[in-house]
Amino acid sequence: MKQRVAFNVNLQERELLVDTHRTLAEVLREDLGLTGTKEPCALGTCGACTVLLDGVPVLSCLILAASCEGRAITTIEGLASDGRLTKVQQAFIDQGAIQCGMCSPGMILCAEALLQENAPPSKAEVEEAISGNVCRCTGYHKIVEAVLVAAEASHE
Ligand code: FES
Ligand code: FES
Repeated sequence: MKQRVAFNVNLQERELLVDTHRTLAEVLREDLGLTGTKEPCALGTCGACTVLLDGVPVLSCLILAASCEGRAITTIEGLASDGRLTKVQQAFIDQGAIQCGMCSPGMILCAEALLQENAPPSKAEVEEAISGNVCRCTGYHKIVEAVLVAAEASHE
């Protein structure tokens, strides 16, 4: 069964006809070409599919696209503006917090949400914010450092 759904993605209004069983991750990647949202497990266990739904990090592999009527979605593609990276994105690069990159969009979006609501966070708060996101490359230390550096840069 198909359903018409209208939502805002990265500040653009989108209207789509979607199968009601398809997830938000599938629709973002396959219908809208926003492949920055990764989907390695599709089971809700890795965090790589994290997007912001009305500013709150969610696992897009566990949410039906048809349930997002009227909501605002931010993917990794929606962060940079006029070619300028956010402080979090820049800090991930500068601190060497990106290796294969599979976890990076989800990590960065979780960090962006944290810095919106709680700034500057403690190291423990950063660790808590990314606790649902798996990284098999970095050992997490550089990711936490990057978020702390971005938090500091945001409050200079
Ligand atoms: S792809 Fe959604 S949690 Fe892993
Ligand atoms: S950089 Fe490879 S999974 Fe995190």
